[in-house]
Amino acid sequence: MDFNLSYLVRENIKNLSPYTTARHEFTGEASVMLDANENAAGSPVSLDINDFHETLNRYPDPLQIKLKERIGAIKGVPVENIFAGNGSDEAIDVLMRIFCEPGVDNIITLPPTYGMYGVCAAINNIRVKEVPLNAAYQMDIQAIADQVDDYTKLIFICSPNNPTGNSIARQDIEIILNNFDGIVVIDEAYINYARQKTFAQDIAEYPNLVVMQTLSKAWGLAALRLGLAFASKEIISLMNNVKYPYNINEATQQLALHGLKNVMQINNWTKTTIEQREWLENELQPLPMVEEIYPSDANFLLVKMKNAEEVFTFLQTKGIIVRSRTKTKGCEGCLRITVGTAAENKKLIETLKTYNPTV
Ligand SMILES: Cc1ncc(COP(=O)(O)O)c(C=O)c1O
Repeated sequence: MDFNLSYLVRENIKNLSPYTTARHEFTGEASVMLDANENAAGSPVSLDINDFHETLNRYPDPLQIKLKERIGAIKGVPVENIFAGNGSDEAIDVLMRIFCEPGVDNIITLPPTYGMYGVCAAINNIRVKEVPLNAAYQMDIQAIADQVDDYTKLIFICSPNNPTGNSIARQDIEIILNNFDGIVVIDEAYINYARQKTFAQDIAEYPNLVVMQTLSKAWGLAALRLGLAFASKEIISLMNNVKYPYNINEATQQLALHGLKNVMQINNWTKTTIEQREWLENELQPLPMVEEIYPSDANFLLVKMKNAEEVFTFLQTKGIIVRSRTKTKGCEGCLRITVGTAAENKKLIETLKTYNPTV
C-alpha cells in the first residue's frame, strides 16, 4: 500500500487556518469568561437529565415545525420563511454550498468581522473578496460596488458587527439590497442589544435578503446550537434541501421550545446587559491603559489599550478570559470584552486597577 494522507487531502484544506476560540487556546482555570459573547446572566432552561422524559429512539422532526411556529410567533415571520440550523454557522455553510461554485464564485466580506464567513469559504474553496470597513467601522459602498463581479454570489453584512460592536447604517444596507443582484446576508446575532431595528420583517420586500439570528446570545442557549435564517420561501426551501436531514436534534428542539416561552425573562436580561455595558464603559474610560472604547450595540465592547497583549495575559493569569483582537487588521491594540454579570464586570475592573505595566 502506498498511503499518503497529504496526497489525499484537498489543497484548500491543507492550507486552512481553522476557526479558533479563546477556549481552544486557554487551558488553565478560568473564573470569569468574557470571551465568547454569551448571555452571562444565565439560560432560560437548564438540563436535568432526571427531569428529561423524552424518549429518543425516534428521529426528530426534520423541519422542526413546532419550534418554527413558536419562533415565528415571536419574530413575526411565517414558518415557511424560517430555517433552523446547528448554530448560525450551519446557515453560513449551507448558503455557500447553495450559491457558490467552488473555485469559480466569490463572496464579499467586510473586515474586521466575524471569522466564520472566511473559514467556511476556505473549507468550500470559495474566494473571499475583503472590502474593509472604514475608520468608523461602516461600509464603503463604492469600494463594495467596485469589487462585485459576475461571480459574486453573497455579501455578508454583520450588524451589529463582531468584533467592533457597532450597527451598520441601515440606509447603506438598503443601498446594497436594492443594487446587488446576489444574496445579501445580514448577520443579526446581536440584534437584541441594538438600537437599530431588525431586517427580519423586510424579507417580503427583498427577494435577495437572508437575515440570520441565533439563540446563542441574548437567548442564553449557546450550548443548544440553534441558529436561524429568515428569507423568501424559495431560499428557505433550498436551505432545507441542502442541510442534513435531522440537523436539529430532539433534545435541542424540546429545550429550545421551553426556553422560547421565557420572552419576558430574556427581555429583562437584555435590559440588564445593556445597563451593565454602560457601567463597564464608564468604569473602563478613566483606566490608564484604556485609549478608546468603541460604541457598542452588542453585548461586548471593543477596547483599544496600551499594551493590549500584556493586559490580555495579565487578565488570564487572574482567571479572566477576554478575546484578544490585537492581530486583527483594523483592531490593532484591541481587546474584545463580553459584558458579564455585575459581579464579573466589577471583578474585571478591580483586577485592571491592579495592573502595573512592565514598560
Ligand atoms: C456575528 C456572529 N454570527 C454568528 C455567530 C455564531 O452563532 P451560533 O452560535 O448560532 O453558531 C457568532 C458567534 O459568536 C457571531 O458573533
